[in-house]
Amino acid sequence: MDFNEVDDAVIQRIRAMNERVEQAQEADLYYYNQPISELRGGARVLVRGREMGMYASYSYLGLIGHPRINAAAKAAVDRYGTGTHGVRSLAGTLTLHRELEETIAAFKGTESAITYSSGYVTNLTVVSTLLGRNDYVICDKLNHASIVDGCLMSGAKFLRFNHNDMQALEHRLQQVPAGSAKLVIVDSVFSMDGDIINFPKVVELCRKYKAWLMVDEAHSVGVLGKTGRGIEEHFGMEGVIDVKMGTLSKTIPAVGGYVAGKKDLIEYLRHASRAYIFSAALPPAVAAAAKVAFEVILDEPWRVGKLCENSKQFIDGLKQRGFDTMATETAIVPVLCGSDEMAYMMTRISQHHDVFVLPVVSPAVPPGLARLRATVTTNHEPEEIEQAMDVILLAGKEIGMI
Ligand SMILES: Cc1ncc(COP(=O)(O)O)c(C=O)c1O
Repeated sequence: MDFNEVDDAVIQRIRAMNERVEQAQEADLYYYNQPISELRGGARVLVRGREMGMYASYSYLGLIGHPRINAAAKAAVDRYGTGTHGVRSLAGTLTLHRELEETIAAFKGTESAITYSSGYVTNLTVVSTLLGRNDYVICDKLNHASIVDGCLMSGAKFLRFNHNDMQALEHRLQQVPAGSAKLVIVDSVFSMDGDIINFPKVVELCRKYKAWLMVDEAHSVGVLGKTGRGIEEHFGMEGVIDVKMGTLSKTIPAVGGYVAGKKDLIEYLRHASRAYIFSAALPPAVAAAAKVAFEVILDEPWRVGKLCENSKQFIDGLKQRGFDTMATETAIVPVLCGSDEMAYMMTRISQHHDVFVLPVVSPAVPPGLARLRATVTTNHEPEEIEQAMDVILLAGKEIGMI
């Protein structure tokens, strides 16, 4: 590598990472960034000419490729073309964007909603718009990276509490000086572990200490609640979250992020959040697909029920086969491996047997807690799930984990 003969910290960082990747590739332990050539219903995919069972997708309700959603996206292209050529505040807002935001607000039971170009950007911009240097933000230690980045960007005093530890949260709330603004942010379902936040207690503590509450629902929309509306429905506590954040890239088969909440909050974000003011609007096909996807969730409620059944089968089956699936209760099912190497080897053997799973290693999870992060969707059939679990068992036995 030759960058004008520079030899500084930047080049060292680049070299270190690239060497790590090359070593993994040479040892046939690198399975990231594989091109998928066909999405056969989402539960099966074609990778390098081989059909594999897909157990790493966020298409929880199997909506990817849904005929109604595809038709809406195609109609939007025919009507508006492929781009918006502008930011929302200037010439970028289409009637479609407004319809999507109204649909999200209705789905989430709020007065209003705002959309951004990704879930990641939503967390960055919303946290850093709401908070400034004199404020406090309190986060669960396992919150998603985009929340952490938003907190750092805001300049607010950043306090973290041990994962799902409500005593620790209360302790943090007590540390905030009287009169200071404070925002508590939690994931509803944790993206690496699949467990659910102790929501009733978080709400109680936010009320007691007069803190704002923001919840990232990336992995609970379509997953939690009888009709898939998310964590408030799951606990029968409608209307208690101040800032309801979510993505359009998981259950919703599109891309983008949103916040739903009170009209005043959303109007403020529309005029103050930099990712809305300085970044182009969602493409028409994406906005149309996302809008119809929310409608499909409500029109086809069996999907949520089947996801629950499939998740239960997957979690119970892996436990019965001797794996540690940690505290998951949802469609995200970690298979604890321990070292990064064990997780890589589990992936290699599973993929060689046509089960598409991927490893999560440090720093995404603490060292020693590397895992397969498997997911199951509505579109998997019970027999397929059994076969996939048998392959994972075979892998576990082959490397001496079981
Ligand atoms: C909890 C959580 N929040 C936010 C995001 C970012 O969403 P997006 O992929 O739509 O940018 C993710 C994505 O993995 C996530 O898991």
